[in-house]
Amino acid sequence: MIAVMSKDATPHQIAHVQALLRQSGLDPVIGEFEGATLVITENEAPGAAGVLETATGVERVVDGQGAQQLTSRDFRSADSRVAVGGPDGAVLGGDGFVVIAGPCAVESQDQMTGVVDAVVAAGAAMLRGGAFKPRTSPYSFQGLGVAGLALLAEQRSRTGLPVVTEVVTPQDVERVAEESDMLQIGTRNMQNFALLREAGASGRPVLLKRGMAATIEEWLLAAEYLMHMGNGGVVLCERGIRSFDRSTRFTLDLSAVAEAKRRTHLPVVVDPSHSTGRPHLVGPMSLAAAACGADGLLIDVHTDARAALCDGAQALSGAQFADVMTRLRPVVEAVGRTLW
Ligand code: E4P
Ligand code: PEP
Repeated sequence: MIAVMSKDATPHQIAHVQALLRQSGLDPVIGEFEGATLVITENEAPGAAGVLETATGVERVVDGQGAQQLTSRDFRSADSRVAVGGPDGAVLGGDGFVVIAGPCAVESQDQMTGVVDAVVAAGAAMLRGGAFKPRTSPYSFQGLGVAGLALLAEQRSRTGLPVVTEVVTPQDVERVAEESDMLQIGTRNMQNFALLREAGASGRPVLLKRGMAATIEEWLLAAEYLMHMGNGGVVLCERGIRSFDRSTRFTLDLSAVAEAKRRTHLPVVVDPSHSTGRPHLVGPMSLAAAACGADGLLIDVHTDARAALCDGAQALSGAQFADVMTRLRPVVEAVGRTLW
């Protein structure tokens, strides 16, 4: 349950609402959203909502869905729109379908320029590229770190397109937030709660990938951490879950897209690259994602995939990406949207 306090509620009125909830045996937590103080409890108590509704300073009382509160459609029934990169940037969750593309890892200035030129020519709306890479093996390329952030920021200035990049430790959040338009939290860190809290407080929109073994509920509760820190710019990303079948790298769960959109107001994008791990499946899964209601895509592109330092096996060439974009347009339009 959430008591949304009016913007001019006094500290005394907020404390009174907390006290009322404690009297009902509940344990309220304070949050903040869009300038309003929220008094939130995970549980309900008989009659508590009615008591709060009449308390001074309470604007409205929302019954959430168990632990899922701020991300629930009860809190906000309309789809959230998440603006990335200022007035000239992209908006996820509206009528526009946003394609984010770029290399898995930032490797060099030449590599970035080549890939970015290719994806921009084909119509990408945002750029991606990892400077901090979460690798399974400590002996694999770990990313260029801060130097990679600078190379990505250079492409942002050159093209004017917003950039998203992964952050893997809470200590790096501030730095990554300064140099990018959107933070990415990867599948391996979906339940790194310290990182979620820090990213939630960063003031930057966050792309939250689904943990590769996470249920939809766990994924939404990770988003709840971000929103609880006052972050209204949360975008979910389905990127495949572990299954028994090794024919694909992971199993892309498109039902999770429709289900997440039913349960939350947050935009949902799909990563057909990391999920399938196979370039020939990226096109079909991109079209399917658009058809089932996704708000955008996150696609790996490399102009020399065989030499890529990370995930070359799943990267599309510039020409393959352009082909996917061409085939995507009519599907996006068929579901009443336009390519951003
Ligand atoms: C890519 O972005 C990830 O870092 C990559 O998929 C990690 O996988 P790996 O380290 O097992 O290759
Ligand atoms: C990525 O997109 O760079 C990435 C590491 O993806 P995931 O977290 O889904 O593996």
